[in-house]
Amino acid sequence: MRIMFTGGSGKAGRHAIAHLIEQGHRVLNVDRVPLDMPGVETRIADITDAGQVFDIMASYAGLDELEAGTGVPKFDAVVHFAAIPRILVTSDNECYRVNVLGTYNILDAAVKFGVPKVIFASSETTYGVCFADGERKPEYVPVDEDHPTVPEDSYAMSKVVNEVTARSFQQRSGIDIYGLRINNVIEPHEYARDFPQYIADPSLRRRNIFAYIDARDLGHMVDCCLKTDGLGYEVFNVSNDDSSVDMPTDEIISTFYEGVPVRAEMGPQDTFYANGKAKQMVGFTPKHGWRRYVER
Ligand SMILES: NC(=O)c1ccc[n+]([C@@H]2O[C@H](COP(=O)([O-])OP(=O)(O)OC[C@H]3O[C@@H](n4cnc5c(N)ncnc54)[C@H](O)[C@@H]3O)[C@@H](O)[C@H]2O)c1
Repeated sequence: MRIMFTGGSGKAGRHAIAHLIEQGHRVLNVDRVPLDMPGVETRIADITDAGQVFDIMASYAGLDELEAGTGVPKFDAVVHFAAIPRILVTSDNECYRVNVLGTYNILDAAVKFGVPKVIFASSETTYGVCFADGERKPEYVPVDEDHPTVPEDSYAMSKVVNEVTARSFQQRSGIDIYGLRINNVIEPHEYARDFPQYIADPSLRRRNIFAYIDARDLGHMVDCCLKTDGLGYEVFNVSNDDSSVDMPTDEIISTFYEGVPVRAEMGPQDTFYANGKAKQMVGFTPKHGWRRYVER
């Protein structure tokens, strides 16, 4: 497929693009900064500028596309990851502005140019736990896609608004728009660096609902979504099957989730961030669990 990928120079995007290239897709990265990856061109652009977004979506993805002499090919899909990726990077209102306006522009252009599929990065933070002031427990565990999304911070608010925007664009256009409620993204080098601390102090993972997703498995999830057509508008939790700590499920519950309803049967290492919907609907099968990479 010919894919326009926004935010591919960032932490999650570079691994997702590498995976998509491996699967044989052609990818044009659109970002404010370049990506140094063979076979991938970056178009420098600001997604909050609608003119730039519309131009790039109707453009060649590289000089080689001039050769056929048949004009500009259409994108088969847009994968939209570009964002301010959390609070406290910019001002709260700038985070909200970039994420909401940028996503509106991407969706608007994709629909108006007839791109049949958009996959966009939403977030675990929509459930309100991650950036709460003080401790906020989920309303139930495991947290699935039906859990209320009423966050307190500008970043997560921007993601909830983007989901509403995406749903509206899907309603009018009928194209496929899938939102990924991505949990904490872990790059391969971060296992050895960070997980020993999580083993020693599981409370470090409370705000992430004890979950995570390997950046390579996130690339696999994007590819699963590219290969699954006809779902209309859907959101999917994206996480590993395992929790990110070396503490059994019943101990996590008694230590951190006292009084929180447990709605599903859980094995001793099961994630508290339910990923069954992605498995069932698009064939997501995460492969990179931390226990393979961390010596205990
Ligand atoms: N990293 C995580 O743990 C995590 C978890 C949940 C969701 N997400 C979401 O996944 C996506 C990728 O996150 P990441 O961790 O790779 O973040 P990142 O900051 O590493 O990458 C984001 C990229 O977007 C680009 N960008 C930002 N504003 C832009 C603009 N106006 N125009 C063009 N490009 C712009 C940046 O230059 C950067 O390369 C984001 O949407 C983020 O909200 C990330």
